[in-house]
Amino acid sequence: MTELAKRAGAPAPSGWTYAPAPESTEIVRLRDRYGLFVGGEWLDATEHYTTVAPRDESPLAEVGQASAADVEGAVAAARGAFGTWSKLPGSERAKYMFRIARILAERSREFAVLESLNGGKPIKESRDVDVPLAAAHFFYYAGWADKLEYAFPNRSPKPLGVAGQIIPWNFPLLMLAWKIAPALAAGNTVVLKPAETTPLTALLFCDVVRQAELPPGVVNIVTGDGSTGAALVDAEIDKVAFTGSTDVGKAIQRRLAGTGKKLTLELGGKAANIVFDDCALDQAVEGIVNGIYFNQGHVCCAGSRLFVQESIYEPVVEKLKRRMATLRVGDPLDKNTDVGAINSRMQLEKIEELVAAGTEEGAEIYQPPCDLPEKGYWFAPTVFTNVAQSYRIAQEEIFGPVLSVLTFRTPDEAVEKANNTPYGLSAGVWTEKGSRILWMAERLRAGVVWANTFNRFDPTSPFGGYKESGFGREGGLHGMEPYLDFS
Ligand code: NAI
Ligand code: MG
Repeated sequence: MTELAKRAGAPAPSGWTYAPAPESTEIVRLRDRYGLFVGGEWLDATEHYTTVAPRDESPLAEVGQASAADVEGAVAAARGAFGTWSKLPGSERAKYMFRIARILAERSREFAVLESLNGGKPIKESRDVDVPLAAAHFFYYAGWADKLEYAFPNRSPKPLGVAGQIIPWNFPLLMLAWKIAPALAAGNTVVLKPAETTPLTALLFCDVVRQAELPPGVVNIVTGDGSTGAALVDAEIDKVAFTGSTDVGKAIQRRLAGTGKKLTLELGGKAANIVFDDCALDQAVEGIVNGIYFNQGHVCCAGSRLFVQESIYEPVVEKLKRRMATLRVGDPLDKNTDVGAINSRMQLEKIEELVAAGTEEGAEIYQPPCDLPEKGYWFAPTVFTNVAQSYRIAQEEIFGPVLSVLTFRTPDEAVEKANNTPYGLSAGVWTEKGSRILWMAERLRAGVVWANTFNRFDPTSPFGGYKESGFGREGGLHGMEPYLDFS
């Protein structure tokens, strides 16, 4: 027997591991202190707070905490720019947007490194998903800017005015692109507020805006916490676009009732990922892992409730646990990392609280052995079995790397259980039968239904929820409508 043939049958050596492959942070030039980006200029804020790196809690920069007066100033700048911007021919607006898209692509490494540094997500995700998709959104909506009459025939589409946009921390640059690109293509101007824990890529984006020579005031960025967001909601704007928690979404909706301001909400989720016994098992396991451990589970459409058909329950759970043991948890800047840092201490505490509730209520917990770094915010990939529908871990959005496994026997039962949630953002179906996919998709109350895949995004495809997951769509032609007036 040759040496090679002998080795072929031997198990992989157990001590084998990846060498560290850290991405350098050299490319990112941070300032000590950032102001507010208003009317194309940096204005000083009166108050500041420190934004940190979740991987080790090291301070990265001081960031402005915009007051209500600061927000009003930004809205005035956006209002001032609206007249000219909205009257530009669509093909001119498109030119600026194509420029922004190209610059984002050119500076993609810088953005990816900064996104991982400030947000904690693995560099391979910010590099391969967040940043390219953000650029793709600008490219895509640039293409619609001069085709609005064609896109909405006989409806005389007109821009609304100033859009106030509030975004979360899980996909900071990508959510910025989802919000800004359709707004600009439609001829609106914007004031955007990034989430308090992840302002840095939005602030770097201001640099791109200047580089693209976008007319001053078309894009304004104000940083700060929820009070800044609340001030933006109350300011003299024409539309609010919000992505974040259901509680804040509801509060904004109450606030806007009767004001005539337009609103779209993209809120939480508790998606069902449904695995039938005729599916390609190994692919499904990859989809389950991607569905819940991608971006540490900080994903509104995460497949956080796994429904497995009873006949394949054991092999699925066994394969899933085996696969989880191979996930590399650690430094977000390491190119081999699969699961990075939790975004903030607050979020870590929320995950810990819900996981403790799951154990207390009687679910069985599994976490693969992994060495978590000492500094920073970390949570091991977790799966709960023996979960009852009534448990908090099966009801509430955990927004962390925590999966709850439940079972079903028939397609009807799967639909009933999957829909038994106040949310309705996304769902996944794994089966070999096309007819069953369609049958399920018709009955699942979710804005997006993935079949034999999960967490797939494309700028051409509308995204959004039912019920407490919000209303309005982002992406695709549907994503233009909330930024247009058809009266
Ligand atoms: P959040 O809803 O408080 O924050 C989202 C954005 O809204 C941030 O920019 C924040 O500054 C702003 N904001 C907060 N209070 C506001 C107010 N009263 N008026 C206007 N804007 C306001 O979400 P948070 O506290 O960061 O996370 C809490 C939970 O929300 C998470 O554990 C997760 O379950 C869920 N969440 C869902 C997201 C999604 O994409 N659907 C994104 C972020 C959080
Ligand atoms: Mg909050």
